[in-house]
Amino acid sequence: MLVSAKEMLTKAKAGKYAVGQFNINNLEWTKAILLTAQELNSPVILGVSEGAGKYMTGYKTVVGMVNGMLEELNITVPVALHLDHGSYEGCLKCVEAGFSSIMFDGSHYPIDENVEKTKELVKIANDKGMSIEAEVGSIGGEEDGVIGRGECADPNECKAIADLGVTMLAAGIGNIHGKYPDNWEGLSFETLDAVQKLTGDMPLVLHGGTGIPEDMIKKAISLGVAKINVNTECQLAFADATRKYIEEGKDQQGKGFDPRKLLAPGFEAIKATVKEKMELFGSVGKA
Ligand code: 13P
Repeated sequence: MLVSAKEMLTKAKAGKYAVGQFNINNLEWTKAILLTAQELNSPVILGVSEGAGKYMTGYKTVVGMVNGMLEELNITVPVALHLDHGSYEGCLKCVEAGFSSIMFDGSHYPIDENVEKTKELVKIANDKGMSIEAEVGSIGGEEDGVIGRGECADPNECKAIADLGVTMLAAGIGNIHGKYPDNWEGLSFETLDAVQKLTGDMPLVLHGGTGIPEDMIKKAISLGVAKINVNTECQLAFADATRKYIEEGKDQQGKGFDPRKLLAPGFEAIKATVKEKMELFGSVGKA
């Protein structure tokens, strides 16, 4: 059964480790992430962007697929199904469809409007026993066609949003989605420290988990980050493995590639990436 992310993140913040949010794009990714979490006895959050939700033919299909896998694969570790960077309308749709967690990304609104909309969604999520993530200070880079510059959040604005009763808070600290440019200045630990001081026990979320050096990941966790989002790294691993398989030209025999065999190396590559991240984030054995 899907669970809210609240308990797993409260435990992670107290235990100084982070739960990975791995984005899903299709059946193979979803199965690979769930099986790895179960093998490592780790809690996990499945992230679904609005674009990925559409690709997978809608949120109801995603809920059906994930619930089916939880049952058929005998997954017993805590799993949350979470809307990533949701619009207000997207959040309502996911509540309706049976997600267990939502993110409302109001970071592009003026702070008053972000507060108002977040407040309404907090009430809806609370009533349903779901967890809700809010964002202050936009995360840079490109995700599903949305481009942000990677700013540092204002710690007082973070406190204002945290006080609305959200479950977890994503604060921009110079992180960006996708690969980091060579001239990237690194995470702003000064901002993170200030945000944590004002928001206390609130689990903080680090987006753009691909390509952040290990020491920075560990320092971020020591300063209150309890959830780390990873997408691009899985994408690169999946693409590389699939490309290699095609280049090796295996399995053609006059009828093209067997679709199941074609995606098997990518599936294994996602499993390996998720394992590596769970070990780095410290969530292994914490289910
Ligand atoms: P990356 O694609 O950089 O791993 O970031 C993922 C993310 O933050 C999803 O919200």
